[in-house]
Amino acid sequence: MAATVNVNGRVFDQEHAAISVFDHGFLYGEGVYETLRTYNGQPFLFDRHMRRLRNSAGMLALPVPLDDEQISARFLDTMRAAGLGAHGGAPAREAYIRILVTRGVGELTYDPAATPNPSIVVIVKPHVSPAADAFERGVKVALVPILRNHPGTVNPRIKSNNLLNNALAMQEAYRRGGFEGVMRNYRGELAECTQSNLFIVKDGAALTPPIEAGLLPGITREFLFEVGAEHGIPVREAVLRDDDLLGADEAFLTSTTREVVPIVRVDDRTIGSGVPGRITLELLRRFREKADRLTRAVAHAR
Ligand SMILES: Cc1ncc(COP(=O)(O)O)c(C=O)c1O
Repeated sequence: MAATVNVNGRVFDQEHAAISVFDHGFLYGEGVYETLRTYNGQPFLFDRHMRRLRNSAGMLALPVPLDDEQISARFLDTMRAAGLGAHGGAPAREAYIRILVTRGVGELTYDPAATPNPSIVVIVKPHVSPAADAFERGVKVALVPILRNHPGTVNPRIKSNNLLNNALAMQEAYRRGGFEGVMRNYRGELAECTQSNLFIVKDGAALTPPIEAGLLPGITREFLFEVGAEHGIPVREAVLRDDDLLGADEAFLTSTTREVVPIVRVDDRTIGSGVPGRITLELLRRFREKADRLTRAVAHAR
């Protein structure tokens, strides 16, 4: 794994990175996070990740004590210490960047007044893509019985460090040999996967559950609407149920670290023709082209 970690402004190797057991992130799961990756050594869609981080924090009334530039400086420092990113003309070593903001250290109470100083941790390590096989042959997912959090409890829009809902669902997916677990919402509609958003393709259109279904507004998901619009592929929201997934022509999942991964099986059912679909692969290709173009332009400007 070999991570390099910035804890409240100081950089440590992974063995020495530590945080107090009295941090309310540890005690109560009170905190939010973002996961970014680089292309061409440049953080991808940084502004959008910062916007979502601040939205998530706002929903917990958690102050983020750094501005975007200061957060960027923290992870660029950490990437430099880790030898990741683009340096002096050498080929870029792509980075995984996880930014966490927690409530901070304080007395054993839920009163936010006890924790005036939020903690900020940045974990950086080499980015690892899913195996080539996942993109070329597609993956199996499990449709798990654990429901996505009701938006009236811990709203799935919050990218929260409190990940028990996701972890329990993914444990079930592991038991069933799934690459991911697909979760339904409290109404029985499909919501999202435990660490990614879900899409199906029907009659040439890529469809994904609406935010109101109770899910994380994925940045890759949002970006894919734009990629689709640029290339004449309809990508839109629709309420989806089990039968829509099982009867889909194609299906795929999206996330920052996984991009667009074709789904070819749901438990013991084959989706479409059982191989990655044409629209899925087209969206993956166009997505990668656009990510490369946007980050290459930044890399050249530096
Ligand atoms: C629950 C959940 N949904 C969706 C996503 C995908 O979001 P993004 O595309 O912003 O990485 C993630 C990413 O980690 C996630 O944890």
